Amino acid sequence: MRLRYDPSGVRRVSLAQQFGRVAVLYGGPPSEREISLLTGAAVHAALQRRGVDAQLFDPGMLPLEQLCALGIERVWIALHGPGGEDGTVQGALEFLGIPYTGSGVMGSAIGMDKLRTKRLAQAVGVPTADFVVLQEPADLDTALEQLGLPLIVKPGSQGSSVGMARVEQAAEFADAWAAARRFDPVVFAEPWITGAEYTVGILQGEALPSIRIETPRTFYDYEAKYLREDTRYFCPSGLGAPAEAHLASLALAAFETCGAEGWGRADFMMDKTGRPLLLEINTVPGMTSHSLVPMAARVSGIDFEELVWRVLETSLARSRVVAMGRRC
Ligand SMILES: Nc1ncnc2c1ncn2[C@@H]1O[C@H](COP(=O)(O)OP(=O)(O)O)[C@@H](O)[C@H]1O
Ligand SMILES: [Mg+2]
Repeated sequence: MRLRYDPSGVRRVSLAQQFGRVAVLYGGPPSEREISLLTGAAVHAALQRRGVDAQLFDPGMLPLEQLCALGIERVWIALHGPGGEDGTVQGALEFLGIPYTGSGVMGSAIGMDKLRTKRLAQAVGVPTADFVVLQEPADLDTALEQLGLPLIVKPGSQGSSVGMARVEQAAEFADAWAAARRFDPVVFAEPWITGAEYTVGILQGEALPSIRIETPRTFYDYEAKYLREDTRYFCPSGLGAPAEAHLASLALAAFETCGAEGWGRADFMMDKTGRPLLLEINTVPGMTSHSLVPMAARVSGIDFEELVWRVLETSLARSRVVAMGRRC
């Protein structure tokens, strides 16, 4: 069994029954489990309020094939990070023939891979910070030479700022590298960007108003994202109309070139001259009531329930192709 993706298949659904029985996949693997539990619970509650026959399903606890026994007709993927946002679950759902929200296997896999995202962005003219891949100790010297200090060390494929560190002095670099490698064998360094941070939500092929993020912490790390009360969000972000339109076009171009689909978010920081640099794309961004995509949607007149509904509509782009193999 496999699914066919056709974006023109997305249509506005007016009756909850048209979605059939829906499972909200949440929880999943440990690294971003806590946030996924919050996203999943919020999404599930919103779907139920809109009359959708929705139930929660934690693939960290139950085998995915159980979806078939439960008669699930489509899936709202509320899993973040490796194992849930990286194409793995998407591939399993293709195999089972169950349509799902958002990006497919390829877009999910590329979106989880920050280096490939940057390389693809460069290829279509979306600016992104320089980088040096850190494979062996000599690469640290290359990075210091090419990027200077301060710089930031990142695992190639994590979310929620896990495993990242700012390096101010060369003596701290090796430790930061070792720490990042605990999360991913692929690690890279970028120069430290000093400008403002923006994020752009994407829903059904359109960019939502950008959000500017300000934190008194060194950067927008796990604490600033989920725990602190002093992180500030501005939406509208304060950009003038041309800069806003430019940022939106970069977000859509980055999303498109990575093969991402349906909905998501692109993160940027401004360089010293005010030019946006792409940090990464997210194919399953957080969806708690405090998350960024819901905040931007609200500003454009889409409340949380409507947003969750429209994301569910993206699953209509995937339909079953009768083929060899298993099917539910
Ligand atoms: N080159 C950089 N310079 C300064 N801060 C950065 C840089 N790259 C990332 N950051 C900070 O780290 C945060 C997380 O980085 P990001 O690449 O978006 O990864 P993720 O959100 O997947 O953990 C950003 O939101 C930003 O605050
Ligand atoms: Mg990010």
